[in-house]
Amino acid sequence: MPTIRLDKLLANRTPHSRSEVRQLLRQGAVQVDGVTERDGSRQIDPDAAKVVCAGKALPGGEHVYLILNKPLGVICATEDRNQRTVIDLLPPERRVKGLFPAGRLDADSTGLVLLTDDGALAHRMLSPKHHVPKHYLIRLARPYEPQYAGILAGGLTLSDGTQCLPAEIQPLPDDRYALVCLHEGKYHQVRRMMAAVGNHVESLHRIAVGGLLLPVDLMPGEHLEIFHKDVENMLNEPRTSAVLEQVIMNFSSYLINGEQ
Ligand code: URA
Repeated sequence: MPTIRLDKLLANRTPHSRSEVRQLLRQGAVQVDGVTERDGSRQIDPDAAKVVCAGKALPGGEHVYLILNKPLGVICATEDRNQRTVIDLLPPERRVKGLFPAGRLDADSTGLVLLTDDGALAHRMLSPKHHVPKHYLIRLARPYEPQYAGILAGGLTLSDGTQCLPAEIQPLPDDRYALVCLHEGKYHQVRRMMAAVGNHVESLHRIAVGGLLLPVDLMPGEHLEIFHKDVENMLNEPRTSAVLEQVIMNFSSYLINGEQ
């Protein structure tokens, strides 16, 4: 297991600055596996050691991974003067340094956003090379039409000439809803694609990124900590049928969540 200096781990995983961490260590406010530790240079295996800082246990692992159910009107940014950001939704102890949304949802979209301080993982997840699939449950202004599937599969050209990669769309039992799967993330892509086929997206709720599904019981604005191994799943392509099955089974819960 890779190790990390205790002071670096504390500075990464708590809201405390490096100088506050040094002070907490000096004061004897840090315990490793139940024993007070004053030496910040000690190497720690973040997956195995139980670290407590100022009475609060640090969750395992070097990095933080949070799944957030983004509500309407909140932006995917780390700070903003005028609008509420996804970071503002977290309690102070979760706002560790370097936390950012890995991938964006528009302010008027809802659903799954991954927040992490793991830049390497986020890069792998977002890099066009990996084409990590993202599934969106959308409500349409007009009923779904069967020709959409072929048009999206052929790689749609948007009104400004932007060329999209082949994408998938599946009708749902209620024909005002559909499940769209993209393998890239262009600006307002789902909305612009549906406009290009002559329809209009009224609401958009992200259900899955790679193999990671939004838990049905995670309410808008709530978050959940997950672990590195779970995030690795995201890079493994899910079967669209598994996502579709989950959406059909939990349709009314997702609607309640996504259509606040
Ligand atoms: N496509 C959109 O149009 N909006 C999003 O938020 C995500 C994908």
